[in-house]
Amino acid sequence: MNRFEGVKVLLTGAGSGIGRATALRLVSEGAAVYAVDRSCEGLTGTAAAATGPGRIVTRVADVCDEDAVVATVRAAAEGLGGIDVLVNVAGIHRTTPIARLTVADMERLFAVNAVGTALFCREALPHLPDGSGVIVNVASSAASHGNPYMTAYAASKGAVLAFSLSLAAEVAYRGIRVVPLSPGSVATPLAGPHVLPPDLDTSYYGRIRAPFGTGEPGQIAGVIAFAASRDAAYLTGAEIRADGGSHI
Ligand SMILES: NC(=O)c1ccc[n+]([C@@H]2O[C@H](COP(=O)([O-])OP(=O)(O)OC[C@H]3O[C@@H](n4cnc5c(N)ncnc54)[C@H](O)[C@@H]3O)[C@@H](O)[C@H]2O)c1
Repeated sequence: MNRFEGVKVLLTGAGSGIGRATALRLVSEGAAVYAVDRSCEGLTGTAAAATGPGRIVTRVADVCDEDAVVATVRAAAEGLGGIDVLVNVAGIHRTTPIARLTVADMERLFAVNAVGTALFCREALPHLPDGSGVIVNVASSAASHGNPYMTAYAASKGAVLAFSLSLAAEVAYRGIRVVPLSPGSVATPLAGPHVLPPDLDTSYYGRIRAPFGTGEPGQIAGVIAFAASRDAAYLTGAEIRADGGSHI
């Protein structure tokens, strides 16, 4: 399948996990991917693992550094000869039991997850083609379903979801689609065991039904590829939740 032959994609968070899997998937389907991450090492690993027919260009940038985002999007548009698709995957997680919630944690989570996503949308939109441009923003099932010790992370992802729905309404007149995608629990460094300190009661997690188990990054990348492709031409302003049935 070469659904992305000739398609130019700007992708954040490409150095690990879901973002890396998305880069590999899109390149394998023919896309030219401009891959952004704050981790140079992560991007090098992604580029090394990518196999054509598409191609990948990498750039180190912090998604919540406004000047860096402006320069990165400009460079992506020049380097690729335009931008057809923006995929915002970069994100961080922090465990924040309410008694230990700090302003610093709240601000950092919102800066990376919500502000970073918004900045890339603002800067990329002038480049996206009317009638076919697409934005896919990775939120989280935590945006709409309760999880203990995740209040601040969930709120930042709720912001991504709400931002995406309103943006979809705002740019629909241009024929540009905006799709918020909410994964459930996926096996990546972000969701490793370190996320839950041992002193917390984690029994709740054992009670969450996950009929399809923990997800793999490639399974989310497949959904992102669908949402970004012409196969999803009638899909906009609607959340896709890919959580293996955890909240059926
Ligand atoms: N893994 C899960 O269970 C899960 C569940 C729901 C949503 N998500 C979301 O999926 C996205 C990808 O997460 P993942 O699980 O692949 O995690 P990950 O840690 O493997 O990858 C995240 C990537 O984002 C990059 N990044 C973080 N902050 C950045 C910044 N300021 N600027 C540029 N790059 C930055 C990291 O360097 C890393 O390469 C995140 O938005 C995350 O919130 C993950």
